[in-house]
Amino acid sequence: MHPVELLPSILSADFAHLADEVARAERGGGTTIHVDIMDGHFVPNITIGPPVVKSLRKATSLPLDCHLMIENPNDFIPAFADAGANWVSVHYEACTHLHRSLELIIHHGMKPGVVINPATRVDLLIDILPMVHHVLVMSVNPGFGGQEFIPFSLKKIARLAELRQELGLTFKIEVDGGVAHDTVAQVVQAGAELLVAGNAVFGAGHAEHDARSLLDAAREAARTNPAVF
Ligand code: DX5
Ligand code: ZN
Repeated sequence: MHPVELLPSILSADFAHLADEVARAERGGGTTIHVDIMDGHFVPNITIGPPVVKSLRKATSLPLDCHLMIENPNDFIPAFADAGANWVSVHYEACTHLHRSLELIIHHGMKPGVVINPATRVDLLIDILPMVHHVLVMSVNPGFGGQEFIPFSLKKIARLAELRQELGLTFKIEVDGGVAHDTVAQVVQAGAELLVAGNAVFGAGHAEHDARSLLDAAREAARTNPAVF
């Protein structure tokens, strides 16, 4: 099992003070910064694009994990590479030619990830699992922070962990949406190691403290016996 890691999602941060927010989350134990890119088409919300990623790149040395919730992601992958993104994930549901999109990310020197919405089955990914660095399981419908965790996501995480073992692969399992104190233990015990958290880290305005306490809870869960889902 990979060690658990916390990926603070800046979606719930104070956008007027992003560099400070990221620094607080890093002091609290965050190891990669999760950046939500939304276009108002694939999801019903709009956030940020390459210029903000470029500024973030100067503000932190942590890897930037760009979660593209956009249509036609291939049109923007080069711009995110130029801006300094390290990991880029694309939605299964947004890619007509997913293999090509992943190749494009790799071609631009970034680590490729694939994301699935709550209603998308894990087994649809089997053929492309060998080429991804991470699989991101959405545990809410993408678009907004602060939503409630969808419980059947746990079965999907467990299925991915099973496939990883069966196929002898090393991709990481990332979970995004509703990861907080009441859900983190189950998420970790289902087999996820990359924990994205927005509201639970930034929502109360104490990012350093809240990141640390969530990470402590995750590590504690990782030390106990895995649950069965
Ligand atoms: C939602 C985003 C998430 C979001 C998670 O579409 O992909 O990264 O920030 O927010 P929380 O942790 O508040 O559910
Ligand atoms: Zn996200």
